[in-house]
Amino acid sequence: MMPGARSSSAELRIAIQRPAEVIALQARARAFAAAAGLANVACWEVAIAVSEAATNMIKFAGGGVVTLRVGDDPRPHVAVEAHDRGGGIAHLEEALVDNISEGVDAREVSDPRGRRGLGLGLGAIKRLMDEVEIDSAVGEGTTIRARKWIPTRS
Ligand SMILES: Nc1ncnc2c1ncn2[C@@H]1O[C@H](COP(=O)(O)OP(=O)(O)O)[C@@H](O)[C@H]1O
Ligand SMILES: [Mg+2]
Repeated sequence: MMPGARSSSAELRIAIQRPAEVIALQARARAFAAAAGLANVACWEVAIAVSEAATNMIKFAGGGVVTLRVGDDPRPHVAVEAHDRGGGIAHLEEALVDNISEGVDAREVSDPRGRRGLGLGLGAIKRLMDEVEIDSAVGEGTTIRARKWIPTRS
């Protein structure tokens, strides 16, 4: 491990299926990030990204698995992987646009009962993490890989 990164267990793997499990997952992600050497705000950013990915897996894929790791290539980081075997994201470019939820603009759905989301989750993950890669195939599932750099003393 590079200097600056604090010691932590190498991997945390959590299967998630129900909304009630998201709070505990968020707390564990935050603790993992803190043990890896991220500052407080960065830990919350990782936790929010994890909970957005988890919420999507629950809503759109029937659940999935979140894995957190500490790595140091090309530099120290906390890596988040959210993997599911759901239906995949048919129009990824569109899904990444803020406010688009399930293909429609959530701002135009005035009755909150008429929508399941605000369409801000994937965009939030992109903004909160330093590097994000989304792999999705219709009928096969979705994998989001995201990394947050751990600052090192120079
Ligand atoms: N794991 C997933 N499996 C299938 N579709 C997904 C998944 N994650 C996101 N999506 C699709 O991408 C869209 C945008 O996701 P997001 O930005 O989190 O907004 P929201 O969850 O509010 O709809 C979702 O509405 C959904 O259509
Ligand atoms: Mg979402």
